[in-house]
Amino acid sequence: MQKFRIKGGLPLKGEVKVSSAKNSILPIIAATILCDDECIIENFPMLEDVSVICDVLKSLNVNVQMDNDNNILKIDGRNMDSLNLSEDLIRKMRASFLVLGPLLSRFGKARIYMPGGCNIGLRPIDLHLKGLEALGADISIKDGCVDISARKLKGTNIYLDFPSVGATENLIMAGALADGVTIIENAAKEPEIVDLAIFINGMGGDIEGAGSSKIVINGVKKLKGIRHMPIYDRIEAGTYMALAAITKSKFKIKGVNEDHLRAVISKFYEMGLDITINGTDVLVNGNVDLKPINIKTLPHPGFPTDMQPQLMSLLSLVSGTSTIVETIFENRFMHVMELRRMGANISIHDRVAVIEGIEKFIPSRVKATDLRAGAALILAALSCEGESEITDIYHIDRGYSQIENKLRNLGAEIFRLTDKTSI
Ligand code: EPZ
Repeated sequence: MQKFRIKGGLPLKGEVKVSSAKNSILPIIAATILCDDECIIENFPMLEDVSVICDVLKSLNVNVQMDNDNNILKIDGRNMDSLNLSEDLIRKMRASFLVLGPLLSRFGKARIYMPGGCNIGLRPIDLHLKGLEALGADISIKDGCVDISARKLKGTNIYLDFPSVGATENLIMAGALADGVTIIENAAKEPEIVDLAIFINGMGGDIEGAGSSKIVINGVKKLKGIRHMPIYDRIEAGTYMALAAITKSKFKIKGVNEDHLRAVISKFYEMGLDITINGTDVLVNGNVDLKPINIKTLPHPGFPTDMQPQLMSLLSLVSGTSTIVETIFENRFMHVMELRRMGANISIHDRVAVIEGIEKFIPSRVKATDLRAGAALILAALSCEGESEITDIYHIDRGYSQIENKLRNLGAEIFRLTDKTSI
């Protein structure tokens, strides 16, 4: 296992470039198997999750070529065969469940394993399966294995009980080649959904309304391969903005789509953070006094749950009382224990965190419990003078490409080491 050793307290400067969005590229990679042609994805981020979903496709005999020097991904599904997804790959990453919709669309059947939950929640898939059944799929679940088949999916109206991002994506992909029209109501409105719709429409699909709560998918007969550049990673961008704030540094973040981060930027403004936006460049000056605020995570365009741990770190150093309500995942406060080790004064009441500002964090040895919790700990460690260690950093590698290089380019002292103390 690996760990980060961080010497915090140094002011950061310069600029950092945001990579393409993990949560956009994962469904887009799944969508490439909707056609029996080559798709080219540019500027793909080197992330563990990208490698895992590519391994899932390779296990289905899809030809995947990763050009890491030029960040070009070539995916060609013309020779796809086996439809039984390996359990360990599905369990490795929930998002690999996103291949279900495309498999069903293209081949009319699939065998897949129930994706594991993870530290932040049970992560059920009932909305995915209910939507696929509405489209005419027969589903049987035995010993954690999902057998699903449909001679031909038939468009229908689907109302999502919750605007689930993954369910919306799976159902868009299932509807893309279905007979007739599929209407998804109460759909998720995240920017990554819009990017997926743009990708499928570029393949020859016919999807309207992505980004709104009502998406209309007119099934088409066939889709073709295309070249696509995914959107920037809004969560990575927000994480670096929080980093400038917590280290009281001034640096530029390149590759920020303001429209995708409105709720986060408005909260930073509410705190009094000095932000200058110039197109897709954002200059953040963290050397200002910040005010305590209240945050409630909500589906897009509300405040994103994926920015909650990072803001918890930042608000821990803002004098006064702040609150965070986590409404999306039932167990997304795992980082609180680790921040408390560093001296944070946070109390939890069900889904509400009450944060009393402290002077500074205490450098400590802490553990990343999930992807965004790990990012929150990096922010905390970089904010305080002294040496901290963060273990279990494989969580962080899932969603932040080349993070130590990007941080070192900003002047941070962060080193990746083998953690001999862990089993
Ligand atoms: C996506 O996960 C993202 N992952 C998550 O990002 C993100 O936190 C989440 O959307 C919410 O924005 C990817 O895009 C790969 P959901 P997803 O389905 O699709 C419940 C990160 O840090 N639900 O919108 O799994 C579920 O339990 C990750 O980058 C059901 O009840 O999220 C949760 O409480 C973490 N039944 C809520 O909906 C279902 O069938 C939101 O889940 C599906 C979901």
